Amino acid sequence: MARIVGAINTSHVPAIGRAIAANLQDDPYWKPFFDGFPPVHAWLDKVRPDVVVVLYNDHGLNFFLDKMPTFAVGAAPEYHNADEGWGIPTLPPFKGVPGLSWHVINELVAREFDLTTCQEMLVDHAFSLPLKLLWPDAPSCPVPTVPVCINTVQYPLPSARRCYKLGKALGEAIASWDEDKRVLIVGTGGLSHQLDGERAGFVNPAFDKAFMDSLIDNPEWVTQYSNEEIVEKTGTQGIELLMWLAARAALPGKVSRVHSNYHIPISNTASGLLAMACED
Ligand code: DHB
Ligand code: FE
Repeated sequence: MARIVGAINTSHVPAIGRAIAANLQDDPYWKPFFDGFPPVHAWLDKVRPDVVVVLYNDHGLNFFLDKMPTFAVGAAPEYHNADEGWGIPTLPPFKGVPGLSWHVINELVAREFDLTTCQEMLVDHAFSLPLKLLWPDAPSCPVPTVPVCINTVQYPLPSARRCYKLGKALGEAIASWDEDKRVLIVGTGGLSHQLDGERAGFVNPAFDKAFMDSLIDNPEWVTQYSNEEIVEKTGTQGIELLMWLAARAALPGKVSRVHSNYHIPISNTASGLLAMACED
């Protein structure tokens, strides 16, 4: 049976792609952000995941506003990145794991999650950059992937409670996959940020830190809030924390904090990183 080793949640700001391409990791602006990753790399070297399931939100590359699934799962042999207009280099294709994709899809539909299944799927910065941050030295991502998309872009959005339930069902589905594989969950987005409008630049470190802490011992904490309340507390794009929540909910039993980092600003965003290990 498959075993979930833990989860890594990280921001996915497009400017990270430009910083990596320009080798700015030691630049004073970027160093506090990139310095979060070496302890996470060391943990990855220890747990050596065979597969990574990535929870992220598409920002208009694969799904546009005309057709927007609430939840979508990739079931392709390969996923291509493409130019989104942010001026970031296009990363090489990511290998899929159709066997796990279809297992997860069957299990989630059986548990009453009405998904969109994608046998072709482009993946944007929210998928590609976190994987590049986790495996920076490999020319292409060395671990095959299953993309799971949550709509945090076009209202109505799924509630925090619903995303928590999705994550829990996803974790149970993965654990029942009949393959002896180690699976890593990655959740991308957030933390607090607002890219436009009157509150552009808004961040809320007190809320972000309370949310990050809650994920260790009390992951349902944020489900007390409606999406409108989360937007009020974290900005219009801060709602991307829903992916962090679903990723944590996928972990069975107790978790321990491997490493965390929090830094303001990266672009318009309060950037966060939180790696959690499943306790055996
Ligand atoms: C930024 C952050 C995001 O999450 C995103 O998807 C695009 C841009 C930013 O801070 O620039
Ligand atoms: Fe985003």
